[in-house]
Amino acid sequence: MTDTVRIFDTTLRDGEQSPGIALNAAEKVEIARQLERLGVDIIEAGFAISSPGEVEGIRAVGHAVDCVVASLARTNDEDVDAAIDSLQGASSPRIHVFIATSDIHLEHKLRMSREQVIESAGRAVARAKAFTSDVEFSCEDATRTDIDYMAQVVRVAIAAGATTINIPDTVGYTVPEEYVEILGGLRERVPELDGVILSVHCHNDLGLAVANSMAGVMAGARQVECTINGIGERAGNASLEEVVMLLRTRKPRFGLDTSINTSEIVRTSRMVSRLTGYAVQPNKAIVGRNAFAHEAGIHQHGVLADRRTYEIMDAESVGLSGSDIVLGKHSGRHALRQAFADLGFTIEGDELKRAFDRFKEIADRKQRISSLDLEAIASDSLRDREDDHHLVSLAITTRTGDRARAEITVSNGEEELTAEAEGDGPVDAAFQAINRVMGVSLTLAEYTIGAVSSGADALGEVRVVVESGGRTFSAQAVSTDVTEASAEAYLRACSHAKTATEPEQELAGV
Ligand code: KIV
Ligand code: ZN
Repeated sequence: MTDTVRIFDTTLRDGEQSPGIALNAAEKVEIARQLERLGVDIIEAGFAISSPGEVEGIRAVGHAVDCVVASLARTNDEDVDAAIDSLQGASSPRIHVFIATSDIHLEHKLRMSREQVIESAGRAVARAKAFTSDVEFSCEDATRTDIDYMAQVVRVAIAAGATTINIPDTVGYTVPEEYVEILGGLRERVPELDGVILSVHCHNDLGLAVANSMAGVMAGARQVECTINGIGERAGNASLEEVVMLLRTRKPRFGLDTSINTSEIVRTSRMVSRLTGYAVQPNKAIVGRNAFAHEAGIHQHGVLADRRTYEIMDAESVGLSGSDIVLGKHSGRHALRQAFADLGFTIEGDELKRAFDRFKEIADRKQRISSLDLEAIASDSLRDREDDHHLVSLAITTRTGDRARAEITVSNGEEELTAEAEGDGPVDAAFQAINRVMGVSLTLAEYTIGAVSSGADALGEVRVVVESGGRTFSAQAVSTDVTEASAEAYLRACSHAKTATEPEQELAGV
């Protein structure tokens, strides 16, 4: 067994399944490039069958990076073919085939017999294998599956060509000792597992995703599936940064390495947080803003005397440095491009032009543009690229005691459309006018407004989540004018809702 643990990042697939997250192809590529700099071994880029946009996103990732790119598929032919299609042109493609194996899933979700599941698993792995030698097979809901039956399924998958076998704790149900027993029991029953990579994939429903993943590693797993900031279905997945720093910090105990360049961790976490709109809690291990802060006087005293008194890791080892990038209105396009690169963003061509115009506009109103502002500008330019509708102008009239009025003009690339509406305050009036111009009627589920950095001239950042036909769509926007940022974000969310014409696939339990 090797002493290296492969890091399989599923931020762009399981992470993207978090409610309200919808990354466009440009955003996926940006995150994938940063994940490659971070040094992950495998990037799971999406679930191809879910929409044509998803296929486009996976393909774009496959073309942008050199590491292994995985595409998820259920065991039916359409799913496997969609995964194959999405990986065309990828230098190291992997197909990740999964099917549920627990009786509860077989009976209530799949309505298949145990024999049918075995047959389906073998057929799908063989179909994937005809396209690529790198095929992963997962037993969904493995930790609630009868172990003798799971052993039969795994045997068939290996015989059909699977080179990685993943045993997921899909519903976050297991505990470390039990997971060790399950994996050990499986290895006893299936000696062929010694010839493939055993993988773990743990959800955090009971807060044990990282502990269970570590137990899996101690039981012989040499691939851990995880996400940046632990985002993912429901309570999320095992957090990549926690798994990696645990292996590094306790290396004398575990004797295991990963290929991760840990100094890229904070940069990656910030990029994922910004592009997904999922904030990182302040006390989050490794990447929370307080993870390396000492509040109590006695702790501060100890740290000043010798950092090792209260610190088990160096802040620098995860990429936290005291210095901040600052640009101002005299900074040129080259400096902006370099500052973006230092933050992990590759902004070029039209995006750079748009970002530079935005930067100049903001620099006229704000003296110091910090790295937080720059991250916001970079993210906004990536979102803008795929927007079908653009805000041309917004006029608001509001007076105490009267209802606010908004007049909005939006371009759809072919023509400009204008509408007026009244509302309870300027933001509501702008949203009503956008509903009219877009011809939609959506439920506003969430509206959050925050300052990107500090100071009275800080950029305002708005995130909205809207609901339409049982689905949620989120969007963000930044501006020094918060009403404008609100209108931009709402327009983007409406545009996503309007263009999401494809029926959503059944993702239950994935
Ligand atoms: O949680 C799960 O079981 C999954 C599989 C598709 C690996 O995400
Ligand atoms: Zn999962």
